[in-house]
This record gives sequence, C-alpha cells and structure tokens, in this order.
Amino acid sequence: MNNLGEKNNFHMTPDEFRRFGREMVDWIADYYEDIEQFPVLSQVQPGEIRARLPAAPPQNGESFDEIIADIEKLILPGITHWQSPNFFAFFPANASGPSILAELLSAGLGVQGMSWVTSPACTELETHVLDWLAEMLGLPEKFMSNTKGGGVIQDTASNATLSALLAARERSTNFSSNENGIENKLIVYASTQTHSSIDKAVKIAGMGKNNLRLIDVDEQFSMRPELLSRQIEADREAGLIPSFVCATVGTTSSNAIDPVREIGEICVEEGLWLHVDAAMSGTAALVPEFRYINDGLEFADSYCFNPHKWMFTNFDCDCFYVADRASLIKTFSVLPEYLRNKATESGAVIDYRDWHIQLGRRFRSLKLWFVIRYYGVEGLRHHIRQHVELAQQFAEWVDKDPNFQLAVSPPLNLVCFRHTGGDEVNQQLLDSLNQSGKMYLTHTNLDEHFTLRMCVGQTYTEEKHVKQAWDLLQTTAENIL
Ligand SMILES: Cc1ncc(COP(=O)(O)O)c(C=O)c1O
Repeated sequence: MNNLGEKNNFHMTPDEFRRFGREMVDWIADYYEDIEQFPVLSQVQPGEIRARLPAAPPQNGESFDEIIADIEKLILPGITHWQSPNFFAFFPANASGPSILAELLSAGLGVQGMSWVTSPACTELETHVLDWLAEMLGLPEKFMSNTKGGGVIQDTASNATLSALLAARERSTNFSSNENGIENKLIVYASTQTHSSIDKAVKIAGMGKNNLRLIDVDEQFSMRPELLSRQIEADREAGLIPSFVCATVGTTSSNAIDPVREIGEICVEEGLWLHVDAAMSGTAALVPEFRYINDGLEFADSYCFNPHKWMFTNFDCDCFYVADRASLIKTFSVLPEYLRNKATESGAVIDYRDWHIQLGRRFRSLKLWFVIRYYGVEGLRHHIRQHVELAQQFAEWVDKDPNFQLAVSPPLNLVCFRHTGGDEVNQQLLDSLNQSGKMYLTHTNLDEHFTLRMCVGQTYTEEKHVKQAWDLLQTTAENIL
C-alpha cells in the first residue's frame, strides 16, 4: 500500500517528493562512493533479472521505500558499471554530478521543446550552448548560429549521421527524393573502419547497402584518400551518383583519424556532402594541443560529436552541426495546422523539430550548460589531458613489456594491444579479466588479429586505476600461460 493510505486517487505530494528525492540523491551519492566494490561487468546470466521480477504489475500503488529497496535487490546485480573508474571498455558513456542534476531538473521541468514557442528557453539555451561549444572546440565559424549554419542536439551520433545522410540525399537529388523516392543510384563512401551506424543509415535512408563503398585504409587504419578519389571516378563512369562521404575522427575499433583535409578537398571538387563523425574523440579538441584533429573541418558540410561519451554529460547527448541549415530544414520540415504559431510564422525563431527525425525533444542543453559552467573550459581540459596522458603511459608500459605489443600507435586515449601469445591467449585474457569484476575491457579485430582495447576516458579514472589495470593484466596473463 502506498504512503497515502486507502485510496488509489493519489499523486506524490511535494513534501513526499522532497523526502524521497533526498533519499534517491543520497542513494546515488552512496553508489558513487561504493562503486568500486561492484563487479564492473555484470555477472548475471541471461534471464536472471527478469526471473526475479513479479510476473504481474501491482494492482495498487506501492510505497516508495519498497521501490527504492528493490533497486539494490533486483536491479544492481544486472548493472554493468559504466561509471566505475575501472571501466575501460568500448568508449565511455560518462556521467558527472552536474550532468545528473541537470537531467533531474530537465525531468522536473518536463519540457517538450519541439518548437520555440513550446518553451523558448529550451531552444535558445541550446543554440547558445552549441555556439559556446563550437568556440570551445575551435570548430569552423560556419557551424555557428549567426551564419548560414548552426548546431542542434540529437540523441546519438547514429541519428546525427542519418540526418546528415538524408540531407545529402535530398541535396543530391535537387530535393526531389522526399517527394518521389530515390533511384538506386546514389553512392555513399566511408572507410572500412567506419562505425556500424553508417551501415544502418544507408539502409534506413533507402540508399541501400550495396551502394555503400568501404574505402581501404593505411597502416594507421585511416582512410586512403587516393582510393576514395578512384572509387568516385569509377562510380561516375558507371553512371552512378556519388553523394555522401563519412570521415571519422577517432574510429571505434582503433581511434584512427581519417585525413579530413584531403577527403574534404575531394568532396568539394566532386560536389559531395562530407560528414565528419567524431563521436568520442571530438571532445579532445577542447585541448589546444589536440586540436589538430579538426584539421580540414572547414570542408565539412556536417560534423557531430558526443558529449555523452567523453565530456561528462549523461547519455544521451550528441552535438550535430551543419554548414547550411537550409538543406537540413528543407529535408525535415513539416508544418501541420496544429503546430502553426505566430513565432514560427514570423521566421524569427528556430524550431528544432525541423532539424532532426523525431518531433518531440527533451531539454538536453541543460546538462551541457551545467557541465560547462561547473567544470569551466579549463576544468574540462584538465580531465581530457589527464586521460590522454594516462593512456599514453599505459601504452608505454605495454610497449616495454616483451609479452605484450601495441597493435597501432595510440593517437589519444585508446590503446589497442595484444599479448604476444596469439588470439586464443588474448581471448582467454579478456575473459578472465572481465570475469574478475575488477575491470572491464573489450576487444576488436585489427589486421586479422584479436586485439584488446583499453580506453581511458571514464570520468573518475585516475592514475591508480590504470596502474591497477596494468598490474592485473600482467598477473592474469602469467596465470593463464
Ligand atoms: C565513431 C563512432 N560513431 C558513432 C557511434 C555511435 O554512437 P551513438 O551511440 O551515439 O549512436 C560510435 C559509438 O561508439 C562511434 O564510436
């Protein structure tokens, strides 16, 4: 029975919200204090969590205390602790105090910001913070809102890339494909190392997987621009229409950085839309000495990076910039009668619903605003620098140990490496480490070899965690052999 007694016509009162809210915040603070006690990778078996849940929903409301108690009992065992400083898997999905509190505020305000008029602050803060970010990252002027371009927050890099692809599809067909569908002639280019979201995007956009050309890479796993050029030429000769190139700054497998400048020059010459996906690594450009990763961005038609990966901002938050917002808006714009309003018709406001696929949108800029204000640019730089420094230190240890080798020289905070014992030993090593619960690593395949990936980027990772991970790797490898 709920705290309000007999009847079912109740809501949580403001007083109750205060009490339970404090309890919930305390719970989260305790969780962060204790996080290293949990196995980083959840150790449950498939179906185990569901089997513990009641088969039917409660007919009458339950007390909030009971609900909170069940988090620990039923949910925590099935949590993989992405916020643990011993999380080195995939790319990070960071949270931070200010970001979590901003999410709470966003939920509390419960704003749906599809149009300017549905909450002007939701739109205007977003425009403003995205301009701040463009400046903080040293992005080209053309992505700022006072030009023909501008930025918008999307949920994920996958959707940002899909949005870019759809706008490119429209531009390549003179904005006729939304009306008439597309002929099977538009061609998309990315490297063999591109993220799987491109595969998905070409399918969803109706361009077709067979029209995706995966361009080979060099020994650093970066796209070879001369092969891109040749492929475009071959496609034109075959009567096809080259449309879109996705370059990656920091590939998922190995953090490779495509030569955006050379790719960009080709795109300008050939009239192709260039999208740059900098999902995790884009954040590094906050630091002046890593800003070289933006080289050539002035050629890009669109760019995205995920503060929800490395910039301490809860999932989900992708920042998507375009050089020509008119192409994007023309691709997505809808105006049914029920969305008409004076502000929209005046042309003086941004309606972000026309900048992406979905209509409704959350107040996501709050968390970016909180994070940027709380850490400040220098605070953010400090942490990013430290992560890169720790990853480079780890790479040095690997390089000096005769039992291990680097798979590729790490540009930033991702180290790809192997034990010299071969694929099977590396697989066993990975399994043992992850089963230990003391750290979480994932793998990839580079040059046909099973390769371990150590990404140093979790909000709370410090030197001692990286050292601990290296010690554990060495002793686990000794025990296996
Ligand atoms: C290079 C790259 N692009 C895109 C993505 C997809 O990110 P999201 O989950 O935001 O769609 C990732 C995810 O790791 C990535 O590494």
